Amino acid sequence: MVSLKEYAKEHHVPIIQDEGLIFLLKTINDYRCKKILELGSAIGYSAIQMAKLDKAIQIVTIEKKEELYKEAQKNIKYEGLENRIVIHNMNIDDFETNELFDLIFVDAAKAQYGKYLKKFKKNLANHGVFFFDNLAFHGLVEHPELCKSRNTKQLVKKIKKFIEETLENPNYSCSYYPDIGDGIMILKIKENTL
Ligand SMILES: C[S@@+](CC[C@H](N)C(=O)[O-])C[C@H]1O[C@@H](n2cnc3c(N)ncnc32)[C@H](O)[C@@H]1O
Repeated sequence: MVSLKEYAKEHHVPIIQDEGLIFLLKTINDYRCKKILELGSAIGYSAIQMAKLDKAIQIVTIEKKEELYKEAQKNIKYEGLENRIVIHNMNIDDFETNELFDLIFVDAAKAQYGKYLKKFKKNLANHGVFFFDNLAFHGLVEHPELCKSRNTKQLVKKIKKFIEETLENPNYSCSYYPDIGDGIMILKIKENTL
């Protein structure tokens, strides 16, 4: 079986960068996360890496594209992780749960990050964290003048607004790392602000 990284490269499936993944796994360890919600599974690469960290880790992950969902399901099964990674083939907008998670890894549509934060903050356990990837958007958030299309420019504008709004929000405690991987933010919700 070709490695998932090779498969992703060959089939142009975006997956988390190595540096971002190392930081994600360290965050899971540091916060002793056992229950994880992932928004955006793609082929299951990051979910599998997270699950392999610790046998006590349970993951719920969501992917809307059927072909990616099927690929992820196959990969999860191949790793024997189907009892610890539950994957749903659906749109995140339609996913509802009352479960609490120690870490919510947000890696789906970048323009929707504000919406995802609003929707899932009720699902964050006490002392839990949100982990947002791709906030640098390949350096374009810092340098929007390099955007080649109007759509990308709009997207980059939205990401910038999300970063500024969350950093300024007194209810959140955020650490933003623009130079790690493709730009990462760890966000905690301050007590008594839910
Ligand atoms: C960057 S990829 C995820 C990569 C994966 N987390 C990894 O690192 O291995 C983002 C995925 O989110 C999915 N996605 C985007 N918007 C979505 C939505 N509204 N509902 C469900 N999945 C969505 C895309 O189809 C894509 O596969």
